[in-house]
Amino acid sequence: MKDLQELGAWYASRVNDHAMLVPSTLPDPRFLYDGREFVSFSTNNYLALATSPRLKARAHVALEAYGVGNCESRLLGGNLELYDMLEAKLAEIKHKESAVLFATGYLTNLGVLPALVKSTQLARAFGYTPSANWKHAFFTDEFNHLSIREGIKASGAPAFAFKHLDLNDLEQKLRASQAAIKIIVTDGVFSQHGDVVPLPDLMALAELYDAVVYIDDAHGTGVLGPTGAGTTEFFGIDSPRIIHMGTLSKAYGCIGGFVATERYIADILRIACSGFGFTSTLPPDQAAAVLEAIDMVQDEPERRARLWANQRYFVTRMRDAGFTLLSTQTPIVPLHVGDEGECSRLAAALHAEGIHVDAIVFPAVGFGQSRLRFIMNANHTTDDVDRVVSVLRHATAR
Ligand SMILES: Cc1ncc(COP(=O)(O)O)c(C=O)c1O
Repeated sequence: MKDLQELGAWYASRVNDHAMLVPSTLPDPRFLYDGREFVSFSTNNYLALATSPRLKARAHVALEAYGVGNCESRLLGGNLELYDMLEAKLAEIKHKESAVLFATGYLTNLGVLPALVKSTQLARAFGYTPSANWKHAFFTDEFNHLSIREGIKASGAPAFAFKHLDLNDLEQKLRASQAAIKIIVTDGVFSQHGDVVPLPDLMALAELYDAVVYIDDAHGTGVLGPTGAGTTEFFGIDSPRIIHMGTLSKAYGCIGGFVATERYIADILRIACSGFGFTSTLPPDQAAAVLEAIDMVQDEPERRARLWANQRYFVTRMRDAGFTLLSTQTPIVPLHVGDEGECSRLAAALHAEGIHVDAIVFPAVGFGQSRLRFIMNANHTTDDVDRVVSVLRHATAR
């Protein structure tokens, strides 16, 4: 108890260093903070759907029809037709037979990755005799999202981290593995880096070594590909080897997570995944809003067109001003700064001018690799971008 109190006091002393911004409205990307208007370059509300009148209207209708929560596991009476409809829609956009919903994206990774391993033990405990002595192993990009790393750890299976996007390193690790079930895990778009997995080459390795590929497409879904279906659509790839994971909290502007898979994997997860069966799910109004958001990504392609036009304008203006961008493939465009103090100083200079951007410093990235992570939005204006470039030029005296 005393130790915990001491630890609490240490954390309390750190609170000011990590003070959260507390806006009074949701960034779309404009928001109010301390009575003043800011523009955010750090929201995942890429298409500004979270506050759109069309999405709110659909959520209102569902709120009236169903109430505010689902109050029970879907296996035990917390199910609704609405959830089944949403799963069918998510399976359709990812070209899969089935999808399984979870309360958040984080909980999806934390639930599904261990379940892929533990489902074998569970089935054995209930009398199933597998045809082989299965051994699983994960092969995971070193910069995958924390929820992936935690999910893999919770599985208890051996895990081999390969260097970021380094397929030679991945191949060496696959070649050395004796595991019968090899699962390659990667983000589609890397959230701190903005780069995209080289999927065609990774799929070639998966074929060669007979591996399953689990893609966390939190930042690709709704954003990448001709219809916004995500990283696989961007590359024109469909494969029964792929398990798609996505969040509903970013481009779709709501909350929730899902996997879209072949039906046999979904069947395993509905029974063996405690993150599905032993918890409640997203509220019904959110499920209805996500259904609307998926339609909006299709019916309002101008939102994605504006997002990408803004991304291109930002990249061009920043490059012309001589800034070093770490990647330019997606709406996540990090500016390399290096020094932690300098990174915080630049974020503060932008903040003083009503622009919010996250300074990404250790431990989110390595020491000396600090960056300002700009996230572009469909509702940014050219004036917003021009102001960022002008403030940064002054602050760095270019
Ligand atoms: C790559 C990735 N996966 C998973 C998550 C978790 O998603 P959610 O916020 O919906 O829980 C995030 C969110 O930051 C993410 O960036």
